[in-house]
Parts: sequence; C-alpha cells; structure tokens
Amino acid sequence: MFEGKVILTGVKPTGTPHLGNYLGAIKPAIQLGKEALAKGGKHYMFIADYHAINAEKDPAVLNQKLREIACIYLAAGLDPSVSVFYRQSDIPEIHEITTILYAYTPKGFMNKAHAYKAAVDKNREAGKPDDDSINMGLYTYPTLMASDILAYDTDIVPVGRDQVQHVEIARDIAGAFNAHYNEKLLHLPTYYIDDHVAVVPGVDGRKMSKSYGNVIPLFDDDKAIKKAIFSIKTDSRPMEEPKNPEEILVYEIYKSIATPEQLQEMGDGLRQGKLGYGHIKNMLLDAVITEIKDAREKYNYYMAHFDEVERFLQEGAAKARPVAQATLKRLKDTVFGNR
Ligand code: ADP
Ligand code: TRP
Repeated sequence: MFEGKVILTGVKPTGTPHLGNYLGAIKPAIQLGKEALAKGGKHYMFIADYHAINAEKDPAVLNQKLREIACIYLAAGLDPSVSVFYRQSDIPEIHEITTILYAYTPKGFMNKAHAYKAAVDKNREAGKPDDDSINMGLYTYPTLMASDILAYDTDIVPVGRDQVQHVEIARDIAGAFNAHYNEKLLHLPTYYIDDHVAVVPGVDGRKMSKSYGNVIPLFDDDKAIKKAIFSIKTDSRPMEEPKNPEEILVYEIYKSIATPEQLQEMGDGLRQGKLGYGHIKNMLLDAVITEIKDAREKYNYYMAHFDEVERFLQEGAAKARPVAQATLKRLKDTVFGNR
C-alpha cells in the first residue's frame, strides 16, 4: 500500500518518551517510513514544536524536550539521509498556508475537534467557564496540522487513534478548497492505523502513560529501569502454583517486546509453576535492556553532540521547504487570481 506514496509523521515534543511510546509509536513510525522508502515512496518526519507551545510555555523545557525527541528518533534508527527530518518551526510557509486554509475552514470543524472538546469538558467538570485557559493555538490546532500535512502532498499519515479525526479534518479542508475552485489543488490525505501495534500496559496495569506515572523509562540507566520493572504489580501466590500467564501483568508487558520463543518460555514457566515473579521480572528487564542497548548508546551520543542533530534538522528543512513553497505558490496564485 506504500508504493510511491508520500508518508508524513509528526510528533509533538511532549515529555520524555517511555517504553510505551517507543514500542507503540516511535519504532513503528520509523519502520513504516523505511517500508515506504523501500517502495519508492517519500518519508517526512517532523517535530511539531509550534503545536507544543500551546501547552508548554517554558522555553528551556521545550528546548530540552525537542532535543530528546530528535535524538530518540535518530537513536531508534531514523536515517536522515533518506527520510526528510525537520522541525516544523523551520518551515515558515506552513503559517501562510494555514492562513489561507482558515478562509476555507468552517469554524464548526474546530468546535468539534476533540482536543478542544476535551478541554471544554474538563472545564465544565471543574465548574469553570467553557473556554477557561483555552488558547487560540489549541482551538485552531487542526488547521495548523492540516497545513503540515497538505503542504507536502501527503498520501498517508500514520497515527494513533487519537489523531484520526485531525487527519479527517485535513482531508475535509482540502476537499472544501478543491471544491471551491473545482480543481485538484490540494492532495487528499488518508490516515493509517497500524493494527499490530498493541497498547503497552504500565507498571500498575493501566495504559502506560506519563500522566499516570506508571512508566518504564527508556534511556535512563539500568538501575532506574530495574526499579520500574520490579515495581510491576504482582500478587502473593507462591512460585509453585500454576498460573494463567494472561492474568499476569509482567507477561502482558513482555508480550510487546519478547520474541515468540521468549514469550512461550515465560508462559510455560508460569503455567507449570517453574518461574516466580522475580524470575519473570528479570526476564523482562533483560529484554528491555537488550532492546534499547544500541539505541541508548546512540541517544547519549546525539544528546552530547546536538550540533550534529541540528545539522540534520537544517538539511531536512532545506529539503522540505521547497515543497512547502511550491504548495504555497499554488495556493496564493489561486486565491489571489495570479494565474
Ligand atoms: P502519554 O500517554 O505517555 O502522554 P502520548 O499521548 O504523548 O503518551 O503518546 C505519544 C505516542 O505514543 C502516541 O502515538 C501514542 O499512541 C503512543 N503511546 C503512548 N502510550 C502508549 C502505550 N502505553 N502503548 C502504546 N503506544 C503508546
Ligand atoms: N497532533 C499530533 C500529535 O499530537 C502531532 C502533529 C502535528 C502531527 N502535525 C501533524 C501528526 C501532522 C501527523 C501529521 O501527536
């Protein structure tokens, strides 16, 4: 399905990524980009720093998060010589495109966008006015995202379920623009959800999420990773008691990282009462450390040599900008009648 297609992935620099982000979003995105490139497609991968400022107002924190996310993608295997890797704020044309798109975007699209709706619901629950603390950046978020996508004639946007609606809005905006001029001026994007990617549970059994504080850290030292893994919820049943692995949280987390043989081994050990909780936690710890060993080294290298990363980002922006400029010209010529 990726033959000759333009794939675009955007990621917001919000918080230090954890194992769930890594296995559920970062690795699959890089993999998908590689598949598209192998099939003659194009892969854009960018850091959505303009989207991040809606929530993060501390420049030092924002800068740190941007560095972390850039280094993590490189450490996890993103190849900036073949993927176009850039930061959103290095492409000023995005904002001119956004302004043009505003004129073709029904306000109702923004009212129904769920990031905005969720913020309103939260305010109502707290007995606050609907728009309390909601800035225009959050309200118009989907139009900027539409611009990110439409600027590059994107075919496919790989997303988690929470972002599907935003891609649909981008498609609807492009459709409205094209319909007005009765011409295919903007390419209609589709979203792609990878069904193989499972939600990784956290140490308390809920979805692993930074907002629940139940994460297994990624590029921390072995001690911190061990501490998190040994805090995974278990019960007091003795080792000898045969157990159904599906009811054991350590096993559930192991599923997202282990090979089929490793999973079988843990499953059999639990069913036969041959593996205790200490054993299986150590098995999970080994798997996590093996998985991230090389990436962690690269991550530490890039964090210490951010000038190299900055160079990659500038090279990426130099490749992305002409494409956005061409789209902007097409739109300006159309709306101002210069053609
Ligand atoms: P968090 O829940 O920690 O705040 P985000 O919402 O910032 O994480 O998610 C960033 C990306 O990581 C999204 O694409 C999301 O689908 C993915 N992701 C987050 N948590 C998990 C998880 N536990 N399992 C799989 N993927 C996850
Ligand atoms: N909204 C996305 C998120 O929160 C980030 C993003 C911004 C994005 N622009 C995009 C994703 C364009 C895909 C395409 O994760």
